[in-house]
Amino acid sequence: MPFRRPRFVNGRILHNGGNGIFYRMEVSIPDRIEFLPGQFAMVSGWPGNDPLLPRPLAIFRAGGARGKGTVEFVYKVVGRGTALLSGLHGGDPLQITLPLGNGFDLGREDRIWWLVGGGVGFSTVFPAAVVLEEQRAAFEVFLGARSRDQLPPREWVPGGGTPGRAHLCTDDGTAGFFGRVTDAVRERMDRLKATERARLSILACGPREMLREIAELAVPLEVPVQASLENHMACGFGVCWGCVTAVRDGEKTAYRRVCKEGPVFDAREVVW
Ligand SMILES: Cc1cc2nc3c(=O)[nH]c(=O)nc-3n(C[C@H](O)[C@H](O)[C@H](O)COP(=O)(O)OP(=O)(O)OC[C@H]3O[C@@H](n4cnc5c(N)ncnc54)[C@H](O)[C@@H]3O)c2cc1C
Ligand code: FES
Repeated sequence: MPFRRPRFVNGRILHNGGNGIFYRMEVSIPDRIEFLPGQFAMVSGWPGNDPLLPRPLAIFRAGGARGKGTVEFVYKVVGRGTALLSGLHGGDPLQITLPLGNGFDLGREDRIWWLVGGGVGFSTVFPAAVVLEEQRAAFEVFLGARSRDQLPPREWVPGGGTPGRAHLCTDDGTAGFFGRVTDAVRERMDRLKATERARLSILACGPREMLREIAELAVPLEVPVQASLENHMACGFGVCWGCVTAVRDGEKTAYRRVCKEGPVFDAREVVW
């Protein structure tokens, strides 16, 4: 039986490679997992205790057969932990706790879904696209990057071959829409009929500023936004309170743990 409750596992890397910007790592694990898009894992694999803490990575894909599981991660090197991960090879061990957090709610029928990924945030929204494609749901993907080389490889975009489905946006205009992904979302939103807008739901992951702008754009129009936050994390399973985000609680402000109550939040709740 695949497991879906958080568990610590010793994995072994099957493949780890990249194009210098993004890396994709496939790992064999003792059992298959079931996960919801948006859920994540805490990952460490470097020898010794430096850095001390594992790093959170979205679960990009999971598979396996006959009791054996596999899990895939996509990551960008931004610091020491991810640089160390990029130096690991097939056969190296990897320590993983997964699946963690609350993923996206894709349960609503007859919705039009827009999936917005800024930077490496695509690694969190692509698994949702895979599920929506299986459900034959209507969805479009908006991907934002500084320039063409910072966009994910086209073949990774689920359903990316379908005309009009993937909107690529670059800040410098080297590919797709010339401008920020939030501007592309705004333009597309302005062209929607009221009946279509009433069915729209947005799933988003990326820099906080991008998420805030998406919320400011969509919430006044009563378009639901599920925003996946990428706060720094220490433990990853709710004990250290190192990852909190401020949320509205009636008239007051409360704090929620991104690793436990998130990482996916209703954008209306978050104090941006
Ligand atoms: C739930 C969740 C899912 C994530 N999924 C992915 C994923 O699928 N792929 C991926 O590449 N990254 C993902 N991240 C971000 C990833 O965890 C960080 O990039 C990573 O922890 C950085 O570790 P490091 O040791 O390489 O960098 P550090 O040395 O810790 O930091 C290097 C630089 O990056 C900044 N930084 C570190 N962590 C974050 C963060 N969370 N948000 C913004 N800036 C940060 C630091 O401020 C510093 O400037 C996710 C984060 C969360 C919380
Ligand atoms: S990272 Fe420890 S409580 Fe969230």
